[in-house]
Amino acid sequence: MSNFIEIKNIKKSYDFGKIKALDGVNLDITKGEYISIMGPSGSGKSTLLNMIGGLDKPDQGQIIVGGTNITKKRDLTNYRAQKIGFIFQLHNLLPSQTTLENVIAPMYESKLRSKKRRERASELLNLVGLRKRNTSYPTQLSGGERQRVAIARALANSPEIILADEPTGSLDSKSSDMIMDLLAEIWSEEKRTLIVITHEEVIGKRAERIVTMLDGKVESQKS
Ligand SMILES: Nc1ncnc2c1ncn2[C@@H]1O[C@H](COP(=O)(O)OP(=O)(O)OP(=O)(O)O)[C@@H](O)[C@H]1O
Ligand SMILES: [Mg+2]
Repeated sequence: MSNFIEIKNIKKSYDFGKIKALDGVNLDITKGEYISIMGPSGSGKSTLLNMIGGLDKPDQGQIIVGGTNITKKRDLTNYRAQKIGFIFQLHNLLPSQTTLENVIAPMYESKLRSKKRRERASELLNLVGLRKRNTSYPTQLSGGERQRVAIARALANSPEIILADEPTGSLDSKSSDMIMDLLAEIWSEEKRTLIVITHEEVIGKRAERIVTMLDGKVESQKS
């Protein structure tokens, strides 16, 4: 299969070169693949994910997504909004907005009218099992429920790529399983490309391929 995401020798350093966050990463990901990224703290996992998501740029090297070299684009706002759904360890929901409003928030550039946006957000909340919580605020939800809202929000613009940085890092094992089941379901039913960073072996093993990083490099890969 041809590669959907091609990462070619990317490097990123901080502190005038003293910290090599990424030290020549090469990785190819096919469309619809589910991979997990593991490795010790500080090995560069989040830095890599943020670059795939267009939140950060490498000092050297290239990232090509669907044939477009995103390292050459000056403004990645549209790329992020249209292609990427991000899920973080701490959900980053807006506390003063309801769950429904939080899911609508990323649709700011969408062509849908306001009524359709609400319908879509409502459907997404239904999908993550929170149908009755449209008007709840994040503080009124459990950690697992908040993370489900974050997943619904990540899906708002039907992104081709879902990036999750330790999505279960702040959850107990039961909620953690539910979140991973949900992500797997979305991945398998809608054939999105799913990349999950995790420190937990059981979670990592759910993916089709485990990429292990060490000192800013891909140390090994296992299918
Ligand atoms: N903005 C920054 N300024 C300076 N150093 C940074 C910055 N961002 C990341 N780093 C450094 O780059 C290295 C890689 O960081 P990164 O966050 O990618 O690690 P990680 O593998 O995600 O770790 P963890 O498992 O703890 O989340 C670390 O040494 C980190 O301190
Ligand atoms: Mg990290």
